[in-house]
Amino acid sequence: MTRLRTYSSLGVNVFPVSLGGNVFGWSASPAESFRVLDAYTAAGGNFIDTADSYSAWAPGNEGGESERIIGDWLASRRNRADVVIATKVSAHPQHRGLAPATIAAAAEDSLRRLRTDHIDLYYTHFDDLSVPVEDIIAALDRLVTQGKVRAIAASNITPERLEASLAFSAREGCARYVALQPHYNLMEREFYETSLRPIALRHDLAVFPYFSLAAGFLTGKYRPGEPIDSVREPRVTKYLGTERGHRVLATIDQIAATRATYPATIALAWLLAQPSITAPLASARTLAQLPPILAAADFDLKDDELTALSEAST
Ligand SMILES: NC(=O)c1ccc[n+]([C@@H]2O[C@H](COP(=O)([O-])OP(=O)(O)OC[C@H]3O[C@@H](n4cnc5c(N)ncnc54)[C@H](OP(=O)(O)O)[C@@H]3O)[C@@H](O)[C@H]2O)c1
Repeated sequence: MTRLRTYSSLGVNVFPVSLGGNVFGWSASPAESFRVLDAYTAAGGNFIDTADSYSAWAPGNEGGESERIIGDWLASRRNRADVVIATKVSAHPQHRGLAPATIAAAAEDSLRRLRTDHIDLYYTHFDDLSVPVEDIIAALDRLVTQGKVRAIAASNITPERLEASLAFSAREGCARYVALQPHYNLMEREFYETSLRPIALRHDLAVFPYFSLAAGFLTGKYRPGEPIDSVREPRVTKYLGTERGHRVLATIDQIAATRATYPATIALAWLLAQPSITAPLASARTLAQLPPILAAADFDLKDDELTALSEAST
């Protein structure tokens, strides 16, 4: 049985890998999305991440596709009480930014699409510097008081605004950010480790890193000189052919071969072993991509393997 990680701020235990939902309705059809969601929960997974804006960037989409698929899946499987649902506000084309009225309206739309009466974890997706943190937290606190949101969290935010938000919550005794969703993986370490991690540790925030697989690069499926057949192409090209990218993949390959597991599992296991990390997020476009992600939940890297990966990615 997979060891769940206690996410004390919410009072629930979550599976060590959160299932990313940006693929649902983008690179994954609704039918394949249902298959991935079914397989993830069948394996013990209970933590699903989405955003109101997923996937507005895709041709023909308007935003809300991922939430709608998850909502339909929850309704058809009648399992809302068994899963922890995280979603985000600030980037939906009809609800941009974090003005209090925008947050209130966006939350209603997310609840409607998710076909639920509450969101377990509600993130500010991208910070909005035009709104004082006090107003943002007050708007989120109202949602908590109304029972529409269980807990609040921040994603793309500066250390200064995160600290200011936490200080305001402490001063006012209102809802506080209990979790953080930073961009963090073997190829992207410096900003999180130097700027946000100290705050996360000091304030005991749960941390759920995104792009844990560097948009697929850390699965090892892309190699220099080979064509990239993926909607993720712009995000992985920047790592291909770099000295550091080569070092990291070579180290992952070697450990994966020795331990008879998948490269993606190694990349996620490294994250799980880092200080402050609660559960990395990763998404599977197909059912076939899920096993390496699930395997990370029960896989421990040895000390020398962790050191080799950390050194290769420095
Ligand atoms: N807060 C934020 O600003 C933010 C930003 C980005 C993401 N997120 C969240 O984090 C989640 C994870 O991020 P992400 O999905 O963008 O990136 P990711 O987890 O780093 O990469 C996922 C992609 O890697 C490929 N992949 C996964 N498993 C594979 C396997 N076993 N074999 C081969 N390829 C595999 C698939 O892409 P292919 O289509 O190429 O197969 C998949 O869509 C998202 O779903 C979303 O919930 C949040």
